[in-house]
Amino acid sequence: MTTETQATAAASGAGATARFRENKKFAADASQERVATLAGRVIKAINETVLEERVSYDEYNAFKAWLIQVGEDGEWPLFLDVWVEHSVEEVANANRHGSKGTIEGPYYIPNAPTLRTPATLPMREDEPGTALLLQGQVRNTAGEPLLGALIELWHADDRGFYSQFAPGLPEWNLRGSIVADEQGKFQISTVQPAPYQIPTDGACGALISAAGWHAWRPAHLHVKVSAPGHQLITTQLYFPGDQHVDDDIASAVKPELILVPTERAGGNGREVTYDFILDPED
Ligand code: DHB
Ligand code: FE
Repeated sequence: MTTETQATAAASGAGATARFRENKKFAADASQERVATLAGRVIKAINETVLEERVSYDEYNAFKAWLIQVGEDGEWPLFLDVWVEHSVEEVANANRHGSKGTIEGPYYIPNAPTLRTPATLPMREDEPGTALLLQGQVRNTAGEPLLGALIELWHADDRGFYSQFAPGLPEWNLRGSIVADEQGKFQISTVQPAPYQIPTDGACGALISAAGWHAWRPAHLHVKVSAPGHQLITTQLYFPGDQHVDDDIASAVKPELILVPTERAGGNGREVTYDFILDPED
């Protein structure tokens, strides 16, 4: 067994919670009216569930214990990003005309090593998995190439683990910030990620098994694409034929985000072209 397989919900959950607290800004300026509306609706939805489903004290106490456990396992980022973030993203990007966005998930880390195209993501000497070349161009909605485009790429390894959230991986493994050329073009060598399984040994895993759900996301590449004067897009790219593309626990797959890779000549892994279109800043 490698150390990687000893990743635990407690470890990845605690890491995700710590990262969230470091990186995110909070909407502390929400009005009293807005807070009352949102909190009131959530509380009402829970009460309606209790009344309509005739929830017992045993069930209520199981719910209470589970909520406490989600916090103790540090799994609130995981829970929210799997079951809620997709709707927030839908609202946030409703007016965009460029590339489709999707959820960020809990494992983004800013300031990954900067690399110029053509680039190879930081990886171990014996990084397992099929070689994958991702190439394309960043353009605006008028079809013009975007000078100074930056592609931040991060993804799980061939076993489904993210660096900095599972033990035994180099700090920046399979994470990089790639500077595109003057034509907005980029070429990035990496390895094909494996499908990702939500940690099964914590509170979210307990819910999934108690409900008879599955814990899988299809294999995916995470990207943030930006360029001066344009709106940053956060998205993910998926692979055709993946068992969970039609059945993602995080509801984050969109048909436009499924890649069409081809086998490279000489049995040298796969390659795929995907262009990103950015909307102008408002
Ligand atoms: C989660 C993990 C991911 O890798 C992802 O892309 C989305 C959600 C999660 O564990 O919540
Ligand atoms: Fe992910």
